[in-house]
Amino acid sequence: MATCAEAELTFSIQPNPAPASDETRAAVLANPGFGTHFTDHMVTIDWTEGTGWHDATIAARQPIALDPAAAVLHYAQEIFEGLKAYKQADGSIALFRPDANAERFNQSAERLAMPTLPEDLFIAAIEKLVELDKGWIPEAEGASLYLRPFMIATEAFLGVRPAKTYKFIVIASPAGNYFKSGAPAVSIWVSEYTRAAPGGTGAAKCGGNYAASLVPQGEALARGHDQVVFLDAAEHKWIEELGGMNLFYVFDDGTILTPALTGTILPGITRKSLIALLREEGLTVNEGRYSLDQWRADAASGKLVETFACGTAAVVTPVGKVAGKDGEFTIGTGGPGQLTRKVKDRLVAIQRGQAPDTHGWIRKIG
Ligand code: PLP
Ligand code: COI
Repeated sequence: MATCAEAELTFSIQPNPAPASDETRAAVLANPGFGTHFTDHMVTIDWTEGTGWHDATIAARQPIALDPAAAVLHYAQEIFEGLKAYKQADGSIALFRPDANAERFNQSAERLAMPTLPEDLFIAAIEKLVELDKGWIPEAEGASLYLRPFMIATEAFLGVRPAKTYKFIVIASPAGNYFKSGAPAVSIWVSEYTRAAPGGTGAAKCGGNYAASLVPQGEALARGHDQVVFLDAAEHKWIEELGGMNLFYVFDDGTILTPALTGTILPGITRKSLIALLREEGLTVNEGRYSLDQWRADAASGKLVETFACGTAAVVTPVGKVAGKDGEFTIGTGGPGQLTRKVKDRLVAIQRGQAPDTHGWIRKIG
């Protein structure tokens, strides 16, 4: 609930006195990569027990001072989001479904015993940052400004309980392709490790989930694959999701399947959007279970024709090859399938303002 103080919250805007030069920015925008370059500013908003959210500031991006006993450093009380600002066909700037990110952020906050943030404040913080740093949005095809809102527990206290102070921060990073390989389809490694168990934090976007995925992801890379895919914790049989993406399967009868949201999978906003777009085309999209054994058998028989992964960072990415301890198999031709291409084009056209936004997913800035 927004307290009085929150309802009146205004942002103090302190422009960076030493922003990057035009030459530096142009060099970054020409080849942004993913996650290595950042804009000139950041948002910070503090939360204190009894007061609520206060001191909303946009200032020069800089290191944050934390007490060495800050709870986030010990017990990982941290959550984050990922969304993008896109240059539109008409030259304006827009966010894609920021309200959905705000909602998921608060669901993550509740799971991690953190305070929720009024959705309007979450969106306003992002919009103001994008407005100030709009010169950092790359315009090339597939490029955008990746926004990373996150919240950390800042209280200096080593007892294990929810902290009494937090910081909400938004940083921005010009982004190109997520996958370095540039291959037309990615290759994924089925991990023996578990990402999330029933009753755990799998449905929350918290840093701890990603820390736990680093060793399995490292194994995938060491074996020459692009991403790791996780099976369920209980039976180690059902396919859940990739380290940072949801999965869809396309069958030869035209139906589509995506793993159901059982509480161990991140409820992706791209996933939700693609389900809507595919159903709008008259296609049947089922949400259910799919086993690794079935996946292998269906790929071999030709019943499964395509598999694609989706997420904010990776957009829609075809999966060409799957490998695990029992060997590997190829999906379809091993390259991008027809439906994968089509659905990606539809989504990207909406995100970039090249197709009508019939769902109200686009939020223009400025
Ligand atoms: N699954 C995981 C584990 C993720 O990290 C992400 C990325 O945010 C997704 C799925 C896809 O979610 P979204 O489409 O909201 O980006
Ligand atoms: C995103 O797509 O926003 C994510 O958080 C995925 C992450 C692996 C970069």
